[in-house]
Parts: sequence; C-alpha cells; structure tokens
Amino acid sequence: VTAEKAGFDHFMLKEIFEQPKAYRDTMMGRVSEDGRSVQLKEIGMTLEQLKAIRNVHIVACGTAYHAGMIGKQVIESLARIPVETDVASEYRYRSPIITPETLVIVVSQSGETADTLAALREAKRCGARVLAITNVVGSSVSREADDVIITQAGPEIAVASTKAYTSQLIAFYLLGLYLAESLETRDSAFIAEVLEAMQQLPEQVERILSQSVVLKQVAESISKHSNLFFIGRGSDFAVAQEGSLKLKEISYIHSEAYAAGELKHGTLALIEEGIPVIALITQEDLYEKTLSNIKEVKARGAHVLGIVNGGSEEEVGKSVDELFAIPKTLPLLTPALSVVPLQLIAYYASLALGNDVDKPRNLAKSVTVE
Ligand code: AGP
Repeated sequence: VTAEKAGFDHFMLKEIFEQPKAYRDTMMGRVSEDGRSVQLKEIGMTLEQLKAIRNVHIVACGTAYHAGMIGKQVIESLARIPVETDVASEYRYRSPIITPETLVIVVSQSGETADTLAALREAKRCGARVLAITNVVGSSVSREADDVIITQAGPEIAVASTKAYTSQLIAFYLLGLYLAESLETRDSAFIAEVLEAMQQLPEQVERILSQSVVLKQVAESISKHSNLFFIGRGSDFAVAQEGSLKLKEISYIHSEAYAAGELKHGTLALIEEGIPVIALITQEDLYEKTLSNIKEVKARGAHVLGIVNGGSEEEVGKSVDELFAIPKTLPLLTPALSVVPLQLIAYYASLALGNDVDKPRNLAKSVTVE
C-alpha cells in the first residue's frame, strides 16, 4: 500500500501533489502547437450547433458542483451564454426548462454518481445535448453523454476530491475558450494570453506545494477550533465553498462559506473573539469590497487568514492577521491556484486531529444511491 502511495502518508496528499501533472495532462493535446488556440476534438458539435446554444445547465454533486460554479463564471464571461449551475439532487425536481437549444454539462469524477446520471437522462429525454466532464473512461456518464471531455487526473482514491476538482477547472477553462473562439466572443490575442497563463499554472502549483509547512502550521492552529468561516466574493466565494467542504469532510470541524457581502445579513452575529476566518481576496476589482468585509469581522475579534493573488500582499497585508499569497495569475484562473492551500489546510487539520484522512466517517468515494 505504501508503494501505491509513492512514499506519501496518504492518498489525499499524494493526489494534492499530483496536481501539476494533472493540469499538464488535461491540457495536453488540447492546445494548438503555437499555443494560441484550443482544440477539443472530442466535442462533436458543428459550428451551427454551437451557435444554436441558447443556455447552459451545469449539473453535478459536491466538489464537482463547486467546479461547476466556476464553470458558470468561465462560460458566461468568455462565451456570453447564460449558465445555471444546479446540484444534481435538486435539478430534476425543480422542473428545469430544458429545450433542444440547452447544452447540459454534467460533471462527475467517477461518472457513476446516481443523481448526476439521473439528471443526464432527464436532460436527454427533454432533447438537450449532454456534454460530460468526467475522469473515468467508460463510466456510465461517459457512455450516455453525447460528448465527453475526459479530465486526465489519473485515478483518485482519497474520498476527498482534490486533483479531480482542479482538472475539472482546467476542462472548464478549455471549454470556455473553445466556445469563445468558435462564437467569436473574444479575440485571438485574448485567447492566447489566457492559454499562456494556463501553461504557467502547473509550475505555480508546485510553488504553493513547496510552502506546505506554512499551511501545516495554520492547519494545526485551526484544528483547535470547532467553528470557522470562509469568505469571498465572485469566484473566491465558489472556492471558499470548496475549501469549507474539504475541511468538513475530513477534519469534521464545522465551517461555513459565505459570500463576503452577505455576512452582515445575519451570519456576522456568529463572529466572536478568536474565531478563525479564511478570507479569499484574489480579485482586484473586488478588493475594496472584500477588504471592508474583512474589517467587519476583524472588528468583532476574528483571526483572519487572507489568501491573495501575488502582488497584492502589501495592500491586503495591513488588514489581516496572516497572509498566504498564491503566485500571480489572471483573475479568471485564480481558483486553480487558490484552492490548493485550502486543500492542504484541510489535510493537515485532519491529520492533526488523528482522523482517517483517506476514508472519512460516513462517506463513500462514489455515491451510487439517490
Ligand atoms: C468530494 O470531496 C466529495 N467526496 C464529494 O462531494 C464528490 O465530489 C461528489 O460525491 C461527486 O462525486 P463525482 O464527482 O464522482 O460525481
């Protein structure tokens, strides 16, 4: 078993460290040689069919749903198509408006999640085209979807999903760029710039991983608390939700992820002396707003760890107790980096508490019941 873990103590840690490779493998063969254009040969839709898409529904569970929240922002901003993201166990029961002009994207690491599969079947019954983003070739979802993007994360064993999630983000970036190119919503210089920044991501993740000792210390102090908050705006809020889920599922510490601006509508009442708050503040255009939310929690005694995009350390540093800077990247791409410190915090908190990191209580890797 130790051999399978390649010297790591747990599959989860091994899989966190495999992310640079997972990013490279998921991009491989999908970017033109000159690095200026996306090639998704696995998508069988003609240009005419792509142009006919009126709306997109992204449907998934758990961590894959959190990837779908980023997917919504990516597709809307790059391709200007309206997107809704739904939890698969809710989707069918809200009688969603699905037409043949709807593209339904199901996201599933295993490709076997019962609710996601049921959503796929419902979408097909209504005449929609279904695109699956999955990590498992030959899985039920991959067999039943019209088009399939395989994330090349390699087998994921730990119940807590890490490299599958980040590979799903890479798949969404590629898909968003592919749609933008096909629908001509973005010019080729812009697309080349994003692709260039994406090529830097694996090495940037490596730089974050090399700082895991710092995050271990943060995690050890967090493990002494029974409650904490993650806050952020925009894509930071989506990443906050993923960070909170990761921490809950393996450390059993209660945490909530909140849209930073929503705190004062109720949740701020829970902030008390010493409570840890992890604030994601990577989006330049939202700095001022999130900073004022950080000040609100600090004034009530919270201990704030700020996760920032490189270059803004000085500006944000004055308002937080601790700071972790991810290497500088485009605002659109920050989720592929900012989630990594949160994965490591969850891992080391679980470890400090002596939990079974790879097999947390009450949970299964693949949820095949509805
Ligand atoms: C992730 O850490 C969870 N264990 C869980 O939320 C998971 O992402 C969810 O069950 C969906 O699984 P899937 O991607 O295989 O469909």
